Amino acid sequence: MGRKVLITGASSGIGAELSRLFVEWGDTVIACARSFDKLDATAERLDSERFVPFSLDVTDITAVEKTVAEIEDLHGPIDLALLNAGTYSPTPAESFGASAVHTMMDVNVVGISNMLSVLMPEMMERGRGQLALMSSVAAYRGLPMAAGYSASKAAVIAMGESLKAELDGHGVKLQVICPGFVKTPLTEQNTFPMPYLMDVDDAARRIMKGLESSRFQIAFPRRFVFQLKLLQMMPDALYFPLIKKAIGL
Ligand SMILES: NC(=O)c1ccc[n+]([C@@H]2O[C@H](COP(=O)([O-])OP(=O)(O)OC[C@H]3O[C@@H](n4cnc5c(N)ncnc54)[C@H](OP(=O)(O)O)[C@@H]3O)[C@@H](O)[C@H]2O)c1
Repeated sequence: MGRKVLITGASSGIGAELSRLFVEWGDTVIACARSFDKLDATAERLDSERFVPFSLDVTDITAVEKTVAEIEDLHGPIDLALLNAGTYSPTPAESFGASAVHTMMDVNVVGISNMLSVLMPEMMERGRGQLALMSSVAAYRGLPMAAGYSASKAAVIAMGESLKAELDGHGVKLQVICPGFVKTPLTEQNTFPMPYLMDVDDAARRIMKGLESSRFQIAFPRRFVFQLKLLQMMPDALYFPLIKKAIGL
């Protein structure tokens, strides 16, 4: 309550729902995304001065530096940053395109590192702050048809792990978020049955709860995470026949 919470990718899906919950909880949300019209529509709907929209493309480092400086000038230091902006498109081997992988790496990985490069030094200097990086359970193993997405989300976990140990010593809390399938515009394009598909409000509430915990990984739903973690530990000789069977190869 009363915190300044910066959320990237706040114009849609999980980010939009988290914004609504944080405003409801009494925090001020600095809501960032490229689609200012969508943020504006949310601002009108919420009708709260604690929802502050900012147009921002996280892949543009100059824009990130300028916007975060403007935000901090106007609203003071950020207490919690949810680096949630992300994108997904399937990358099956048969129609593999480097440009799709490039886009996912750019938004999902470089976008987060752009934000971290600006937010982290200030938090470390103050000796407090909280950072949450959006990954996915798709990071646990390279999933079929999702080479670009799995690779980008695995990079996020690795980046978070690398930074966590160092940040602990500076009083800055860092976590990574690994949701299973959530009903949002991002998953609308999936034509396959999505196991344990959950509603966006359920996912956002689990993230809110996880952010209060001391866990490094906020991963859910538990059953799906357990199954994917088993796959992660499985030797390759067992994993590949199993996954091939699962996708009918
Ligand atoms: N839905 C799932 O099942 C699921 C599961 C695990 C993890 N995730 C992750 O959760 C995050 C949110 O996904 P979602 O499902 O809520 O998808 P979504 O509804 O498509 O929302 C994606 C958000 O990211 C923003 N975004 C995309 N590119 C951007 C850029 N270059 N700069 C700034 N913002 C950008 C979009 O806003 P603009 O287009 O307006 O910029 C939008 O607000 C993503 O990182 C996704 O990978 C989702």
